[in-house]
Amino acid sequence: MSSKHILSVAPMMERTDRHCRYFLRLLSPNSWLYTEMITASALVDGRRLHLLKFHPDEHPVALQLGGSEPEKLSRAALLGAVAGYDEINLNVGCPSERVQSGCFGAALMSEPEKVADCVSAMIEAVEIPITVKTRLGIDDLDSYEFLHRFVGSISDAGCRTVVIHARKAILSGLSPKKNRQVPPLDYERVHRLKSDFSSLEIILNGGLDSEEKAVMQLDFVDGVMLGRQAYQNPCLLGELDSKLFGCTSMLTREHAFRCFLPYIREELNRGTPLKVMTRHLLGLYAGRPGGRAWRRFLGELPGGEEGFAALQRFDPPSV
Ligand SMILES: Cc1cc2nc3c(=O)[nH]c(=O)nc-3n(C[C@H](O)[C@H](O)[C@H](O)COP(=O)(O)O)c2cc1C
Repeated sequence: MSSKHILSVAPMMERTDRHCRYFLRLLSPNSWLYTEMITASALVDGRRLHLLKFHPDEHPVALQLGGSEPEKLSRAALLGAVAGYDEINLNVGCPSERVQSGCFGAALMSEPEKVADCVSAMIEAVEIPITVKTRLGIDDLDSYEFLHRFVGSISDAGCRTVVIHARKAILSGLSPKKNRQVPPLDYERVHRLKSDFSSLEIILNGGLDSEEKAVMQLDFVDGVMLGRQAYQNPCLLGELDSKLFGCTSMLTREHAFRCFLPYIREELNRGTPLKVMTRHLLGLYAGRPGGRAWRRFLGELPGGEEGFAALQRFDPPSV
């Protein structure tokens, strides 16, 4: 099966906003990008449609929604489709308390029928694919049989692509950050799922922090999704993109920085604060000579025109 999602960048709140995605796209022409989670309520009740804004260069880009009411999710999915997104992804993996109190995110795993209802309502509403991002399980609902039933039920509802963060979520007593570190990763469970659901596109996520680890997983699943590493070291994403798609024209770090400047200029003209964009550049020289000076330079950058002029004058390390 040839996968559309061989390489993806994970949805990350306060990270993968539209500025970040534009920048990552410069380094990675072929990956699928995901928005931060946006709640269906923010779009449908709050009419906060500005949250849907994205740049045409971001394609392919998926909107991630949070929610648990089929009707509201289907209306939010329609808003996303009309805005031009390539896919709508339902978050069934976030363990934060705020999300649990709205009873969605990872907590929804305990209600597979409800998730299936949400998926079918969204599929009814739009023509673009509806996908689900989830975990191996939650709390003591952590057997392989539970996961198998869960995936079977969303598959029966019509979902064809499932992203699995390869660890379970612990819903009480563990912060979202710890929930990305403490529960152990179990890639084999995701491989087993792929062999049991061979017609589904199964994407593996969690702990992929090197090119080798990511490439190795593609022997077992249809695609890999990188979160923290793609953000903290965006050039790893670029290298992986070149390796997987055979593209030799990966931008150098310096060139990617230069290509981002016209975008920053345009956004400044629209009133976007400079730091909102430059904060996503902090990892550009991760692990490279000059990385510390680069971060210091960005940290001390003044706002507005003065900061932009300093950016234009800056000679970034050429590695
Ligand atoms: C700062 C941060 C914010 C996140 N926000 C979301 C989110 O909005 N939706 C979601 O499904 N997962 C979210 N995640 C989880 C990631 O998508 C991913 O599943 C997790 O980080 C594991 O992948 P990694 O080890 O490659 O980082 C977030 C992770 C981080 C670090």
